[in-house]
Formats: sequence, C-alpha cells, structure tokens
Amino acid sequence: MADTLTITDNRTGKTYEIPVENDTIRAMDLRQIKVQESDFGLMTYDPGYTNTASCKSRITFIDGDEGILEYRGYPIEQLAEQSSFSEVAYLLVHGELPTREQMETWEASIRMHTVVHENIKRQMEEFRYDAHPMGMMISTIAALSTFYPDAKQVDCQQNRMLQITRLIAKVPTLAAFCYRHSQGHPYNYPDNQLGYTENFLSMLFKMNDNPYPLLPAFVQALDVLFILHADHEQNCSASVMRAIGSSDADPYSALAGAAAALYGPLHGGANEAVLKMLNEIGNVSNVPKFIERCKAGEVRLMGFGHRVYKSYDPRAKIIKRTADAVFEVTGRNPLLDIALELERIALEDEYFVKRRLYPNVDFYSGLIYQAMGLPVTMFPVLFAIPRAVGWLAQWNELVEDKEQRIQRPRQIYLGHGRRDFVPTSARP
Ligand code: CMC
Repeated sequence: MADTLTITDNRTGKTYEIPVENDTIRAMDLRQIKVQESDFGLMTYDPGYTNTASCKSRITFIDGDEGILEYRGYPIEQLAEQSSFSEVAYLLVHGELPTREQMETWEASIRMHTVVHENIKRQMEEFRYDAHPMGMMISTIAALSTFYPDAKQVDCQQNRMLQITRLIAKVPTLAAFCYRHSQGHPYNYPDNQLGYTENFLSMLFKMNDNPYPLLPAFVQALDVLFILHADHEQNCSASVMRAIGSSDADPYSALAGAAAALYGPLHGGANEAVLKMLNEIGNVSNVPKFIERCKAGEVRLMGFGHRVYKSYDPRAKIIKRTADAVFEVTGRNPLLDIALELERIALEDEYFVKRRLYPNVDFYSGLIYQAMGLPVTMFPVLFAIPRAVGWLAQWNELVEDKEQRIQRPRQIYLGHGRRDFVPTSARP
C-alpha cells in the first residue's frame, strides 16, 4: 500500500500524487495544483483550524473520542494521583521525569526566582481598585519583558531555560498580587521555605505576619488542579504562544498574548462563566428552563462541550473527585446541586447527546476555587498559572523545531477589486 493520496483536478483532468505522512498531507503539496501556470495554486480553507496540524509535537497527546490525555506519554490520571505539579512542570519542559537530584535542582532554581522587581509591584498598585485580576495579570506578564531584555536571545537554549524558570517562578507571585490588590490587602512576598502550591496559597491568604494555616486538602486539590490544567496541546492560547513566538518575540511578550487568549469565555474564562451561569440559574428547579434556553440557542451551557473531547473530559472526572475532598473540609457548595442537575439532564438530553457535549475541565473547577474562598474574577488567573508551563514547553519546542517559520496564514480575498480613491468633496 503506497503512502500517497491521488488527487484528480476535475477542472483540468490532471492527476497528482501527494505523499501522506502521519495521516497528514502537506498543505504546500497542494500548491502545484493549478488551472493555469500563473495561478497561485490550491489552498485549504480552515477557519478555526479544525483540521489543520500546525506543528509536530512530542508534549501532550489527546484522544478526544476516547477521553485520553497524556503528558509526554504519562496518563493524566496517574500524574494527578502520584505526581506533583512541580514534577509535572519538569516533565513537560524537559520531556522526562526528573531524577531526585534533578528535581531538587529544579525546585531550588524555581524558588530562587519567585520574587518580582519592586517596580512591578508599584506598577500593579496603579491599577484601579476594581481592575479585573486577569487584565492585571496579562499586562504585568508583558511588563516583565522590560526587566529581562536578555530574554530576546531566544536562540540560546541556556537562556531559554533561564526565562522558563523565571516565568514559572514569578507567575504565582503576580497572580497572588492581583488577588491582594482586588481585596485591597497588602501584597505578600513569596516564602521560599514552602513548596510551589503552598507558597501560592500563603501569598494569597496570609494576613499580617502570621503564617497562613495551610489545609492539606486545599494544597492537594490545588496541586491536582494545576496538574490537570498544565497543558492541552494546540489549544487557542498555546497556538497564540506559538504564533507570537514564531516571530522570535521574547517569551514574556508571547506568554502575555497567550494569557490574553485564555481570558476569553470560550477558553479559560469559561470557569468564571460557569459560576455566573450557576448563580443566574439560582435554584435546581430552574434547571429545566435553562436547558431549554440552551437548546433554543439563546445561551450556552458553559463548562460543556469541547473542540477535541467528544466524550467525558478526563480532567472533569478527576476534578469531580477533588471537589468532594474539598467540600468535606469546607462544607458543600450550594451551587453544586445545580451543577449536578445540569449535568444529569444534559447527559440524557438528545440535544447534548447528539452533539456529544459533555462536561469539560471548567464545569467543576470553579466550584472548588469558590469553596477555597476565591472570587470568580480570579478563576482565569488560576488557570493561567499552571498553563504557563504548557505554553513555555510549547514555545521551547517551537524554537527548537527547524521546520517552523514565522506564522503567516493565507486568506481568501473576497473584497472589492481595484478602484480609484474618491476625495471627500466628490463623495455623495
Ligand atoms: N451549550 C450548548 N450548545 C453547545 C455548546 C454548549 N456549551 N457547545 C457547543 N454547542 C452546540 C453548538 O451550538 C453547535 O450546535 P449546532 O451544530 O446545532 O450549530 C454544536 O454544539 C457544535 O458547537 P461548536 O461551537 O461548533 O463547537 P466548537 O468545537 O467550535 O466549540 C467550545 C467548542 C468549547 C467553544 C463550545 O463547546 C463552547 O462554547 N462551550 C462552552 C464554553 C466552554 O465551556 N469552554 C471551555 C472549554 S474547555 C477549557 C479550555 O480548554 O479552554
């Protein structure tokens, strides 16, 4: 069996043989297909890139039909149960699980970079009291690039690793500052005696000089949530990270762009939208009416559906269990009953079944964050912390990939043909 595709162009009757590799053809192989020699050649049209591979990657594998998610080959369920977020971060960035010694060095180097320049803190203080934390987060990540001009040397592997470590270390500090600002509370500096997740919780909630009493259930839950959110192959924000990175921009600027893409309610902003939706529904008895509005196309059932998963999102299953562990400590979030009823009805309803719409990672994560005492506006920020690791792993892979070039899609131009300018005085 030949690994080729034979295409007959019915416009000309000509036949072409195109190589097939990894079940994919190269779009550029279509350019030879022309009616006249002067033609541009055949292109593919794929808004939203639903069937276009933009890269070859060795980081994350997803099988959307089977509900499988693996980082560097390791199933997400095993990582969530047996690993830690710091270790998963190492795995995503370096490709292999660390030895004990590598892990110690990794954690020590991240601890070394958790502090941000005082000017970043002052810049943050200038935001309005009610500034959305994600807006603050995006702009201060971008501002970091001005503190590290050396980050422009993207071709140097050692330099890239330094910037990756800096970013992974500083993102929780910025996130905690965003929260403290929105609460009108003084910012807490990092405590490098603590682990990654503990330190973040402490920076969020510590009051005065008293150590923050870390609840193991919270630390464990947040660490699992961070693992589940760390990467998700070529999603909207990772693609933005790669698009900006493809122009050799520094990783701070690229990561700010990726975070901006994450902010949207169809992507990482969905967990915020889920909570708003649950509050709007308000009561279990209102669920059937809300489902009818979804089916009529008036509203979307936020936290449901996924471009890739056409079965239960494996992350949502783990999050549901994590939520139970947190609610044992905090008491049951009253919105949980509404969420469970939405899920029950949607999973039985023909509209959702036919479209293969299942709960995604965002359906339950917001309930956990809320139980921990975090406001909904912080939810996308909480998504951005672990996803920064995925973005950086994707960026590093992009820079090392010799086949990659600056991203520059084509268009199908359907606008006016050439016409002459008319001065204002001559227009009707
Ligand atoms: N509620 C109601 N109907 C929906 C929903 C939903 N949440 N999602 C999709 N549909 C319908 C949609 O109306 C369409 O129906 P029809 O064929 O009759 O026009 C069909 O299902 C296919 O939808 P689509 O918009 O073409 O699918 P997509 O792959 O472009 O969109 C999605 C994927 C995640 C943007 C979408 O499912 C959605 O808007 N979900 C709600 C937002 C959400 O939870 N986003 C978080 C995604 S997971 C976290 C992350 O990775 O960021």
